[in-house]
Amino acid sequence: MIIILLGPPGAGKGTQAQRLEREHGLKQLSTGDMLRSAAKSGTDVGLRAKEVMDRGELVSDDIVVQIIAEALTRDECVNGYILDGFPRTVAQAGALDAMLEQRGTKLNAVVEIVVPEDVLVERISGRFACAKCGATYHDKFHLPKKDCVCDECGGTEFVRRDDDRPDAVRQRLKVYKAQTEPLLPYYRERGILIRIDGNRPMDEVAAEIDRQLGIENLKPPKCDDGDAAGTAG
Ligand code: AP5
Repeated sequence: MIIILLGPPGAGKGTQAQRLEREHGLKQLSTGDMLRSAAKSGTDVGLRAKEVMDRGELVSDDIVVQIIAEALTRDECVNGYILDGFPRTVAQAGALDAMLEQRGTKLNAVVEIVVPEDVLVERISGRFACAKCGATYHDKFHLPKKDCVCDECGGTEFVRRDDDRPDAVRQRLKVYKAQTEPLLPYYRERGILIRIDGNRPMDEVAAEIDRQLGIENLKPPKCDDGDAAGTAG
């Protein structure tokens, strides 16, 4: 199963993609995470991308298309994957269509997570993540179960993103409206767009996504016998 998660900054794409990977074995492919990791490694591409990201602008189509093209060849995508933050422009959507066609696969659904702007700003300003595994938390809505210990990996260091400053957030919201919202009619016309009200508690959003995708019973593949629960991507 191949799914795109679409939505403005702070809508909950990363939160839901991490959960879909954990609960259903669909690999999360986050271009934002991949670019942040390249920046952390200090590669040329990563450092140039970081400057653009910190301003709240989009990294060039060529770079992100290349990153996704490489990711799709990985074995971990074989049971299906979630594109989290890609595509973000009509040009990227066209490039994705070409990549999927070349691989003989197709998109199953595009999930748009809808959240009002004032709520987005509150979510982004309270967000922090585990420095070790990237699991996402929130000062008010989602604290680790044990104080200062990551639920997922036991890590004890947490980070906040450089592009979560108010000026960069305003720019990211503007860029989403101008460059990414045009993807909604693109996918609606193809009959694969699903709209989810994301302004609800996380578990309600999760249940609605699973119900609309029909994956309530999809389990992650078992590691011991290579039994694949999903369909190849
Ligand atoms: P990216 O990392 O993709 O950021 P984004 O799209 O701005 O989205 P966010 O990660 O801010 O939000 P989210 O929707 O994942 O929300 P989250 O689950 O964390 O991209 C960053 C930058 O990289 C871009 O600006 C661009 O420069 C570059 N880039 C990336 N992809 C690119 C591409 N394809 N092309 C060009 N450039 C690209 O949730 C937010 C907070 O809310 C968390 O604290 C969470 O705990 C909380 N929360 C989540 N759901 C709920 C809920 N239901 N109720 C209450 N709280 C909730």
